[in-house]
Amino acid sequence: MTTTPDGGFGIYVHWPFCLAKCPYCDFNSHVRHQAPSQLQYANALRQELRYFAQYTKGRTVGSVFFGGGTPSLMEPQTVAAVIDEIASLWNLPASAEISMEANPTSVEANRFAGYRSAGVNRLSVGIQALDDVELKRLGRQHSVAEAIQAVDVARNTFERISFDLIYARPEQTHAGWRTELNRALDLAADHLSMYQLTIEEGTMFHKLYAAGKLEMLDPDYAADMYDITQEVTSARGLPAYEISNHAAQGAQCQHNLVYWRYGDYVGVGPGAHGRITMPDGQKWATTTHRMPEEWLLNVENAGHSIEEQELLASVMQADEYLLMSLRLAEGIDVARYEALSGRSFNNKRLSNLQELGFIKWASNNRLKVTEKARPLLNAIITDLSID
Ligand SMILES: C[S@@+](CC[C@H](N)C(=O)[O-])C[C@H]1O[C@@H](n2cnc3c(N)ncnc32)[C@H](O)[C@@H]1O
Ligand code: SF4
Repeated sequence: MTTTPDGGFGIYVHWPFCLAKCPYCDFNSHVRHQAPSQLQYANALRQELRYFAQYTKGRTVGSVFFGGGTPSLMEPQTVAAVIDEIASLWNLPASAEISMEANPTSVEANRFAGYRSAGVNRLSVGIQALDDVELKRLGRQHSVAEAIQAVDVARNTFERISFDLIYARPEQTHAGWRTELNRALDLAADHLSMYQLTIEEGTMFHKLYAAGKLEMLDPDYAADMYDITQEVTSARGLPAYEISNHAAQGAQCQHNLVYWRYGDYVGVGPGAHGRITMPDGQKWATTTHRMPEEWLLNVENAGHSIEEQELLASVMQADEYLLMSLRLAEGIDVARYEALSGRSFNNKRLSNLQELGFIKWASNNRLKVTEKARPLLNAIITDLSID
């Protein structure tokens, strides 16, 4: 069965390059001493879009997302070429959200106007911390002043903006986070993403942590920072609509909603993931080659660089839908879950979770994880998956 009408349709474009590798980051990002050819990458991205368009003809694109890596290292004409290609392959209405992640160096801020002319209408700026010492520790290439300046430029350039912060950093205190968070809210428009620092395998922070040279906060102390985040953001009109994402009413990131509502998305560029419902109604998961140079070569030779493709049986779709949708404050559409999985949630487990105050029912047969239980999401999902 097709699940697309419930979740929308989006396009993800991955730009895999960064000026430097941040020590906490395990995203598919690469530093190259010689700048890649923008024209070659633009052509390859267009070619891979054409490949996926064969199977998704006639669809209406609700959102496009340029993620990375650092997409703000793309030349505006590269971005324009990709957006124009998307508009020629699918129906791209003027109302579609076209987002881009940007790093706030002054060089990049100088390109914002070019991105707006190319069609980008929402910018998500990676600020990470409002403290210069912390920015250095996080390996960032910008200062707080530059970040604030970039947000100012972005605000005057795009219809919608957001920015990212990382909290629960080593040595950060509750009082320090409260102050930083309030400052961020002073600076924010109608959307903010706030991620708790995680130590990812293969990163420099992981090496330091394993060698005892990086001390993380006590987990309970860090969990209280999550509660502080909920309290302060709700009081100031930007409640969480997802674990790490906060928005005013109607200002949610449309692209991320496609993921969490388990819609369809085409993923192009190195290491991009996709979920596509084919004309025969079967849903597939796709992953492209993660190394930029090999991705490029494959696309030039074969028109795409899909490294893995997996047919998603209905029950697998149900598992993915459960995992994604419970991240959202709006919760899961239980009828859709039951249709995909062919099962109902176990009543006894449901009542236990409800008695504990971990889940609650909402209108239209939706089940939600309560705010206080969101940090326990994985355990709740496991519980609901068992008969
Ligand atoms: C694709 S990444 C980065 C986009 C952009 N290149 C930048 O650095 O601003 C998206 C966001 O994930 C968050 N992030 C990345 N690694 C993280 C980690 N280990 N712990 C917490 N947040 C992380 C950061 O806030 C980052 O802005
Ligand atoms: S956090 Fe952003 S800038 Fe830093 S390495 Fe990761 S993708 Fe690149």
